[in-house]
Amino acid sequence: MVRIKALILSGGKGTRLRPITFTSAKQLVPVANKPILFYGIEAIRDAGITEVGIVVGDTADEVKKAVGTGEQFGVNVEYIHQEAPLGLAHAVKVSRDYIGDDSFVMYLGDNLLKNGVKSIVSEFSAGSHDAQILLARVPNPSEFGVAEIKEGRVVALEEKPKKPKSDYALVGVYMFTSSIFEAVEHIKPSWRNELEITDAIQYLIDKGFVVNSHIVDGWWKDTGKLTDILDANQMILAELRPDLKSEPKKGSEIHGSVRTGKMVRIEGSVLRGPCVIGDGAVIIDSYIGPFTSIGPNTRVKGSEIENSIVLEDCTIEDIGSRIGNSLIGRNVTVTKNDKPPRSYEFMVGDNSNIIIF
Ligand code: G1P
Repeated sequence: MVRIKALILSGGKGTRLRPITFTSAKQLVPVANKPILFYGIEAIRDAGITEVGIVVGDTADEVKKAVGTGEQFGVNVEYIHQEAPLGLAHAVKVSRDYIGDDSFVMYLGDNLLKNGVKSIVSEFSAGSHDAQILLARVPNPSEFGVAEIKEGRVVALEEKPKKPKSDYALVGVYMFTSSIFEAVEHIKPSWRNELEITDAIQYLIDKGFVVNSHIVDGWWKDTGKLTDILDANQMILAELRPDLKSEPKKGSEIHGSVRTGKMVRIEGSVLRGPCVIGDGAVIIDSYIGPFTSIGPNTRVKGSEIENSIVLEDCTIEDIGSRIGNSLIGRNVTVTKNDKPPRSYEFMVGDNSNIIIF
């Protein structure tokens, strides 16, 4: 059997998730209280791959701190520095020494696949293709790389086309042999000055290399935007197994799948799963509704929250109406002012988005 390595891309600026990504890597935003990147590393480990190269950029320190040597996942991680986000094919280029002549799975660190990559990796290692791409039908193909398919074969790929030739988006998981290095050396930067992986794969197709395609089964999410993160949170929580490490105090009600961490205080509250409450969180006289992830050491008092992600160390107190469909960053305070003047008071970062009812 061929040796397969993994290359996880965890750089980029995460512009579509600002302001959260002003202070944090987009791949480390937690979904169901676990960084998105960790789901990818686990999927790779579960496919039997132990050599994992992580391509890092500006947020290298934070990614290294979270992932370390990879020991916590049972893999060996090495970090590869990409000096600037010059495209996915550029990330492949800078990883040449790490990959050597091995085949590899390239996994975009902000992608989540329900069924992991095990069957895809074994299909590729058993076959004789030069590359394998994954496709999924989407309602908004112009936001992705798009494959044009004729008679069941991929004939062309286009990155974020204005007029997509199909609704098959390229999923952020690719399998390559070392032939991809020839391709990345030959392509030119695109209009956005990036070396596009779609162009590199197109090069392989044009040169007669065999590029296999595979339609993803189960859900897939690219978590680049707020709505996608909330969808991903829903999908992961929908499969949550209940586990109460801290028991709620009398006067509280727990319905459905609820997971609570250690040292969690729940008093006079209703928790309607699926939802997850991080270690050290405090929930008092509140309602935590379905599809909600409350981060560690966050305090919610006299408030209602559903279909939302609240990160660690936040305080949410005495909000009159229900918070929904929200992503709230670290160390945020949201409170109600019941003394005049009756004004909304904000101190929010650049590119924040606030909707008042
Ligand atoms: C990248 C790729 C695109 C692919 C997408 C999948 O886009 O360039 O071809 O469809 O990932 O997640 P990005 O999310 O970096 O804009």
